[in-house]
Amino acid sequence: MIRCFLVAALAAAALLTAGPAGAAAPSVGECLDCHGDKSIEMTTPGGQTVSLHVDLEEYRRSVHGGGSCVTCHTDAKSPHERLAKVNCGRCHGDAAKSYASSSHGKLRAKGVADVPACHDCHGKHGIRKSKDPAARTFHLNIAAACLRCHKDRAIERKYGLPGEKEMIGYERSVHGLASKGGQMGSAVCPDCHGNHTILPGDNPKSATNRQNIPTLCGKCHTGILDKYERSVHAKGMRAGIAESPVCTDCHGEHTISKVSDPNSPVAARNIPKTCSRCHDKEGISSRYALPKKRFSSYMDSFHGIAVEYGMTKAANCASCHGVHDILPSSDPASTVNKANLPNTCGRCHPKAGPNFAKGPVHVEITPSKSLGVFAIRVFYTLFISALVILFVLHVGLEMYGRWNRRRKGGAEGKGSPK
Ligand code: HEC
Ligand code: HEC
Ligand code: HEC
Ligand code: HEC
Ligand code: HEC
Ligand code: HEC
Ligand code: HEC
Ligand code: HEC
Ligand code: HEC
Ligand code: HEC
Ligand code: HEC
Repeated sequence: MIRCFLVAALAAAALLTAGPAGAAAPSVGECLDCHGDKSIEMTTPGGQTVSLHVDLEEYRRSVHGGGSCVTCHTDAKSPHERLAKVNCGRCHGDAAKSYASSSHGKLRAKGVADVPACHDCHGKHGIRKSKDPAARTFHLNIAAACLRCHKDRAIERKYGLPGEKEMIGYERSVHGLASKGGQMGSAVCPDCHGNHTILPGDNPKSATNRQNIPTLCGKCHTGILDKYERSVHAKGMRAGIAESPVCTDCHGEHTISKVSDPNSPVAARNIPKTCSRCHDKEGISSRYALPKKRFSSYMDSFHGIAVEYGMTKAANCASCHGVHDILPSSDPASTVNKANLPNTCGRCHPKAGPNFAKGPVHVEITPSKSLGVFAIRVFYTLFISALVILFVLHVGLEMYGRWNRRRKGGAEGKGSPK
């Protein structure tokens, strides 16, 4: 500190002797007389030591490098007193306005330092256009800037944000891996959240609000959005049915994986569970007058058992109902409409005759829904139980008999003379 004051005093003296030239706006060179020194430091009121070095090369290559230091540090003289914070909004009004309406900006305005200011994302003296691969905000670099805070346990706990696991999940997701591999078209944080107008998902204006998610994902997955919009789920969702699924209900948010990944919620083996999160819920079935027990009736079927045991060729919910364009069976365009069933089943059962698809598919095994199957099931349950009991009894008696015979044989052996 003392050295700093000495330097400042020296510079002040130099300035006084320089006469009227010192009154003009200070040049970059004048500021760098002191700030070009690699060892120049300052102790913050918090007690931290921070470097005050500014790299001229980096500054000259930045978008603002053509101007002098006072374009941003408007109150700086050479030498100077304590300076005011830089206001980027003086020249970037639009960015500053949208930033001010965001979750980050609102807290920053209250003086909270845990949220990012402009320079936390853009840098200070090396700012580049976002198109420049060396920019911090370049598409493939920005996630690292977000994750510096969003993978920080302390911040996550203090503000109740999604856990570190969820963020690591993003890095391992299909989008995260593709970005890491240099694929420019893949989704990074601001593609879904925006850059300056980041808002919580429960705000209707947020890009990640439920109502906006299909459009958000559809920006890049256009073909799928078109299909989805035709489905019963999209119609329900647009009509305000909160339980109707949007893309993230079936795929996840940050942890979206390739369909071919066996852990994906939409991998063939996991589809029944994913659909049944809703379709096996009593509430949903009765509220929307949907038939119940779609999961258990499927799991009891040949297909359900086969899929459960890893035979992914057997039919899962999506093989019969479709995926993004699911329609009720009453709709003539539905893959499970009576008229279309021979076709739908025929994809996998090409040799099946016209009667193959006639029987009901989701068989609820109750006396009122299907007495025949119920009776056969009861008969088999009793029959097999009786069979097992008789079998155990039979084996038990047989063993007792053998043991008894051996015991008697042994006793006779001991008593007889050699
Ligand atoms: C004579 C040397 C000297 C010159 C010339 C000088 N500075 Fe500084 N500057 C310092 C010192 C010393 C500090 C640390 C002050 C402290 O410890 O509080 C500092 C701190 C700063 C800070 C950060 C602390 C704060 O007050 O916010 C900024 C920004 C800054 N200078 C910008 C400039 C700019 C822009 C110029 C050119 C117009 C300039 N300086 C010229 C010596 C100088
Ligand atoms: C595009 C705007 C901009 C320009 C131009 C600019 N600075 Fe800064 N500078 C900042 C910001 C933002 C900070 C962070 C502190 C703040 O908000 O005031 C900062 C901080 C500093 C600091 C404090 C140390 C640090 O890194 O936080 C020094 C010293 C400094 N600037 C010197 C300079 C010098 C010397 C020049 C000219 C070569 C210059 N600045 C040009 C935006 C700018
Ligand atoms: C949370 C990080 C973050 C913060 C905070 C932030 N920006 Fe940005 N900003 C970005 C990203 C990311 C882009 C680039 C988006 C892209 O790829 O086009 C961007 C783009 C820009 C652009 C380029 C023009 C444009 O719209 O593409 C300007 C100018 C800009 N920001 C200024 C600011 C200013 C001024 C502030 C503070 C008021 C600020 N930014 C705060 C992340 C941020
Ligand atoms: C005195 C006005 C002024 C101030 C203050 C200022 N900028 Fe700029 N900024 C400009 C101008 C002018 C350009 C355009 C340079 C060009 O296109 O070559 C620019 C360009 C940018 C770009 C690149 C835009 C693009 O097209 O990709 C970003 C990002 C940016 N500024 C961020 C900031 C941030 C962050 C701050 C505060 C730390 C800031 N600016 C302060 C005038 C300013
Ligand atoms: C300097 C640290 C920091 C950086 C960098 C940062 N954030 Fe944040 N972010 C926070 C903090 C702290 C909060 C909590 C704010 C609150 O609760 O209002 C937050 C909140 C959020 C929220 C939730 C909004 C809400 O109100 O629930 C989202 C989404 C978000 N950030 C996304 C991003 C994205 C995307 C980036 C990168 C472009 C980013 N953040 C960069 C610190 C940061
Ligand atoms: C494919 C789109 C997508 C990407 C990429 C993405 N997110 Fe999210 N993010 C979401 C969705 C959707 C939500 C849930 C919003 C809700 O329902 O509240 C969310 C929620 C969040 C939240 C919790 C705040 C809230 O609104 O509930 C934070 C913080 C967050 N994301 C940060 C990030 C960060 C940091 C990255 C980059 C490492 C990132 N996200 C990448 C879609 C995405
Ligand atoms: C987030 C909950 C949710 C998930 C996940 C979900 N659905 Fe739905 N589904 C609904 C709701 C709610 C309706 C009623 C919407 C309406 O009528 O507008 C519905 C309607 C249907 C219908 C039409 C019923 C009728 O007669 O109108 C079928 C068929 C259907 N879903 C099949 C599926 C399949 C197959 C999957 C898995 C690939 C699935 N659903 C995943 C909630 C869900
Ligand atoms: C009801 C659940 C459900 C909803 C809602 C849903 N998906 Fe899917 N999605 C699936 C299933 C199941 C698969 C796997 C299909 C297969 O096995 O080929 C899939 C596959 C995909 C694929 C990869 C395969 C392909 O066809 O390219 C993408 C990309 C995709 N979905 C994006 C979306 C988007 C975007 C939305 C929202 C507009 C969405 N999904 C809504 C269940 C859903
Ligand atoms: C910025 C564009 C973009 C956005 C936004 C986006 N995606 Fe993607 N998504 C991609 C790209 C590109 C790939 C292919 C990555 C690869 O090749 O590995 C992909 C891959 C996928 C896959 C894997 C497909 C497969 O082959 O199995 C699914 C599923 C998916 N996205 C779902 C979503 C969902 C759901 C959302 C919304 C929450 C979303 N995406 C938002 C660009 C995007
Ligand atoms: C082998 C083909 C097939 C499989 C696999 C299948 N379904 Fe179905 N599903 C049908 C047919 C055919 C109908 C219409 C007749 C009926 O209700 O039995 C139907 C009806 C439905 C209905 C009633 C609404 C309507 O459109 O009539 C729902 C909801 C449903 N299925 C959900 C599911 C779920 C969830 C799964 C997976 C756990 C599944 N289905 C598996 C063929 C199938
Ligand atoms: C995704 C392909 C696929 C679809 C679609 C499909 N199945 Fe199957 N199904 C299988 C596989 C694989 C098996 C077990 C192998 C086998 O025996 O053919 C099977 C077995 C069966 C069996 C057990 C008896 C048998 O033939 O081995 C019946 C009954 C059956 N399916 C009926 C249907 C009906 C009805 C439909 C249409 C509503 C249908 N399946 C649609 C793949 C499918």
